[in-house]
Amino acid sequence: MNSRHTDSHVLNRRAFTKAALLAGAAVASDAAAALAESPKRIRTGVIGCGSVSHSYLPVLAQCPYVELVSLCDIRPERARNQAERFKVAHHYPHIEAMLAGEPFDFLVDLTDMQEHEHLNRQALVAGKHVWSEKPIANSLQAGQELLRLAAEKKLRLWGAPITVQSPQFAFMARTLAQGALGRVAAAHAHYGHEGPNWSPFFYEKGGGSMPDLMVYNLTTLTGLLGPVKHVAAMLSIVTPERDLTGKGRIKVTEEDNAMVLLDHGRGVISHVQSGFNYFNPHGHDGSGERQHTVTIVGSGGFLGLVGYDWAPQGVDLATQKQPQMKRHATDAEGYIWQQGAALAAECLVTGRELLVTPEQALHVLEIITAARKSQETGQRIALTSAFRWPMAR
Ligand SMILES: NC(=O)c1ccc[n+]([C@@H]2O[C@H](COP(=O)([O-])OP(=O)(O)OC[C@H]3O[C@@H](n4cnc5c(N)ncnc54)[C@H](O)[C@@H]3O)[C@@H](O)[C@H]2O)c1
Repeated sequence: MNSRHTDSHVLNRRAFTKAALLAGAAVASDAAAALAESPKRIRTGVIGCGSVSHSYLPVLAQCPYVELVSLCDIRPERARNQAERFKVAHHYPHIEAMLAGEPFDFLVDLTDMQEHEHLNRQALVAGKHVWSEKPIANSLQAGQELLRLAAEKKLRLWGAPITVQSPQFAFMARTLAQGALGRVAAAHAHYGHEGPNWSPFFYEKGGGSMPDLMVYNLTTLTGLLGPVKHVAAMLSIVTPERDLTGKGRIKVTEEDNAMVLLDHGRGVISHVQSGFNYFNPHGHDGSGERQHTVTIVGSGGFLGLVGYDWAPQGVDLATQKQPQMKRHATDAEGYIWQQGAALAAECLVTGRELLVTPEQALHVLEIITAARKSQETGQRIALTSAFRWPMAR
């Protein structure tokens, strides 16, 4: 979802963001109406004022559970510009100044993927709840240590993505739980585009198409089919050097092409692919994608998610009883991918729990590191982590 390669992508992206904001505003006003007067807003600081902050900040600014008190970016002009745009009183050039400055209780971390782990740790040590863009940490072990730290300090830690919160995910989970597909056998999911063109971290150690893109499909498929027992993968670099806007030519050191096989146990096998070399006629406008990007098949039925799992358009279902494919769950019901931190704020204020859990986010992180190990060794890799499944709604 994150490319600004061409003018048409910029336009598509703007149109998409506008649609998302309208949806976000609807969610916010529904919530506001339900709460006649908001009992409490959580004092929130946002670190990282780059590309994705343009999607998060409008939602946070309208969220009835959030008081935006400070912004931070090591490129101070970015923090200053966003503070002016969203009328946030305080902005800082680094986390130390932010933590020592205007008090707040909840940090939203939107920085480079490789920065999350140490910033999330600093925030937890300082007593802040944390919502982190993906990944929460650079390794399963480091992520589990962050979770222990959070538990010790009675703090909450969550990570993107939130695909399991969509009504389309709920429909698929319910259909599987009802046994409508018979004996579930196989699943496939894919997500790719031509790659972000604004920041090198996507292509450096700790980056790659798996933590940036495959993470959505991995969250959806583990959410639907359960934690993974074994992983086998082939990864490659298709474009070893790239020209980034304002950065010149960079070397690509992490995979930009990934094929991963997942064994979910009970005989269920899935296959996920992602890449930064995928031509896509719809660019990154999620609403433009009308193909199935996640499919699940069993002895008695087929499920196909229409569009991307981060911006789903509906679910097609065919079963032995009703072999004519029928479309379901076409209403987003207020779900938008950029509302994760706002949902976390709602949870902190009202206690309304999310389906998103840090345990699942860390399981997905372990799948990604196992895929890298499988590529290096040619082996099939056993996983150690799990999360509570099936996911109840
Ligand atoms: N861009 C998107 O549309 C999009 C969508 C979904 C998720 N994401 C995720 O959001 C995260 C950020 O991506 P992005 O595209 O916004 O990147 P970006 O490069 O546009 O923005 C990252 C910002 O973080 C700042 N930063 C880096 N290290 C910092 C530090 N230690 N302290 C303070 N600020 C720091 C950078 O200066 C930059 O302004 C990534 O995890 C990415 O996977 C991005």
